[in-house]
Amino acid sequence: MLNRLDQQAPDALLALIKLYNADERPDKIDLGVGVYRTADGATPVFKAIKGAERKLVETQDSKSYLGPEGDMGFVRGLIPHVFGDAAPGDGRMEGMQTPGGTGAVRLALSLAKKAGVKRVLMGVPSWPNHAQILDDLELEMVAFDHANADGAANMDGLRAALADAGEGDAVLLHGCCHNPTGVDYTADEWDAIVAILKDSPVLPLIDVAYQGLGAGMEEDAYGVRAVVSHCPEALVAYSCDKNFGLYRDRVGAFYVITTDADATVRAISNASALARANWSMPPDHGGAAVRVILEDPVLTQQWLDEVQSMRERIAAVRAKLAASSNAGGVNLEPLGRQQGMFAMLPVSKEQVQQLRDDHGVYMAGSGRINVAGLTLGNIDAFVSALSDVAG
Ligand code: LMR
Repeated sequence: MLNRLDQQAPDALLALIKLYNADERPDKIDLGVGVYRTADGATPVFKAIKGAERKLVETQDSKSYLGPEGDMGFVRGLIPHVFGDAAPGDGRMEGMQTPGGTGAVRLALSLAKKAGVKRVLMGVPSWPNHAQILDDLELEMVAFDHANADGAANMDGLRAALADAGEGDAVLLHGCCHNPTGVDYTADEWDAIVAILKDSPVLPLIDVAYQGLGAGMEEDAYGVRAVVSHCPEALVAYSCDKNFGLYRDRVGAFYVITTDADATVRAISNASALARANWSMPPDHGGAAVRVILEDPVLTQQWLDEVQSMRERIAAVRAKLAASSNAGGVNLEPLGRQQGMFAMLPVSKEQVQQLRDDHGVYMAGSGRINVAGLTLGNIDAFVSALSDVAG
């Protein structure tokens, strides 16, 4: 039986990690997979996480099973930061812990499918794994262009897709720091989206994977809070990979918002059954560390300060790129107006390959760069490499 399987290409983004590690050039530049780096190019464990882990070692008295919902202290502790005052307090919302943001997206889409969703509207380009999960779940993707050539969101494309959609459709939107374009909806644009969605049968799914790395913790939550405040139903996938630096510990959360408390209980019972059949229960350690941070005001402030310094560094790199005049005709100016870790450069697959071969610059084949991979020490080398291949 197993002999019938066709060879699959490795995941293009994750394959970059191995290619970069195997490159022996000392001045190589990693702009591939979405991992935050400090000004020294490191990805250290957050100080707040270290503090929480020390506390956990001292106080955790059992590693016995928790259940498919995971650590509910973690799930509930995130709510004020993600949803603020928009969190429905009447039993319309409940959450579960998931293995990373991927687990949350997977669970949200599996639940949507079980509830009768057949098609998912999605702005493209998007995070490549979104399409892979849809394909694996045999959900049809209805694509529209996410961004315009001028680097702003394509509201007409979204409006047209929603106008053609109806019962049995969901729409997947990035809460902030759009991956891969960095093009986020403004607050006015979110208001316009919500005005359509609140009276539409289309089910919103908001993927929030980079809260705090755009304009601020509160600002980055504008869209998800607007949707939750005004739409009768919504699904939210949340990742702590980036804003707690917990990548390999796989820490995420899934929230469902329904019309009433009974519907929420039923939705969670279905999500629990799906989780049980997929991964039984999520890994505990990272979620427990986040819970310890969120229960302790001193650690919470330390965490928020760390996120702020990440955000400020990303913004500084963006500003420097936007001001570069010598990028071989590649206009980097829009990067200064966009947000988060990612930006798309208008380069061909051949130019991406040439940047890798000739200059040791690693980026996704789509032309996506991880802005956080740039430092004051390598930014000029990157711009000059870009000028070499694109000029
Ligand atoms: C990325 O887009 O690079 C990150 O979200 C990491 C991943 O899992 O793809």
